[in-house]
Amino acid sequence: MASSTGPGPYVTPKEQDVRPGAVDDYVNSHLQTPASNKYHNALEHIREKSIAAGLPDIACSAAQAKYLAIQVKIAKAKNILELGTLGGFSAAWMASAGPDVKVTTVELEEHNANVASKNIAEAGLQNQIDIQRGAGLGVLPKLVAEVKAGQRPEFDFIFIDADKQNNLAYLNLALPASRSGTVVIVDNVVRQGRIAYPDEAAKDERISATRNLIETIGKDERLDATVIQTVGEKSYDGFLFAIKK
Ligand SMILES: C[S@@+](CC[C@H](N)C(=O)[O-])C[C@H]1O[C@@H](n2cnc3c(N)ncnc32)[C@H](O)[C@@H]1O
Repeated sequence: MASSTGPGPYVTPKEQDVRPGAVDDYVNSHLQTPASNKYHNALEHIREKSIAAGLPDIACSAAQAKYLAIQVKIAKAKNILELGTLGGFSAAWMASAGPDVKVTTVELEEHNANVASKNIAEAGLQNQIDIQRGAGLGVLPKLVAEVKAGQRPEFDFIFIDADKQNNLAYLNLALPASRSGTVVIVDNVVRQGRIAYPDEAAKDERISATRNLIETIGKDERLDATVIQTVGEKSYDGFLFAIKK
């Protein structure tokens, strides 16, 4: 139920809780194994190779990337759109969900796209991943026009993980190129709980844009959505999950 008084001031936790990272380490040691995924060895090294190439350490965690891949399998998705490639970690994970899964991933930074291209080729997934270079707002209308023209299949899975200010614009551009049942996942929608606090939103455009995204989706009859909060090695954050009706 919505509160009329709001949540009050945001309180930064005094200490970093080490337990979620310990749990990630523990479960990954059992569940992220060569037997579980034929690309395991390559996937395991993409994040460290990206960091060595100078990219920021902002890819999703290994557990989250595997979770995305499992969602791709559950949805039986074959044509994935990703906004925000970075070093190709999440794209490679999603492509590893099956040999007939295709990922079209959009990246603004040339260097990031080059690193991703190398990582993806070294993983042997280059035939399944198409890196589109440029700003999402420039590239996406072209991709959507190609879908409308029958030159590429509709997107059945959309992962939005680029510049957070444009989350809603990406959703609105991509949705007409999707179908009933298309899954939409947006990363980083909780931001250590700051999303619930209007004062925090006033200080950070990424948070105000994400609040706008959540509030707009709530009124959008095309979608049914929820937010799942996450903890782990990437601290306290969350995914927005939506399905196109
Ligand atoms: C959080 S990282 C993506 C992480 C990646 N999805 C993963 O988990 O492995 C965000 C990426 O979006 C890219 N980006 C930022 N603004 C963009 C824009 N306007 N269009 C396309 N990509 C953008 C950044 O350069 C960065 O590589």
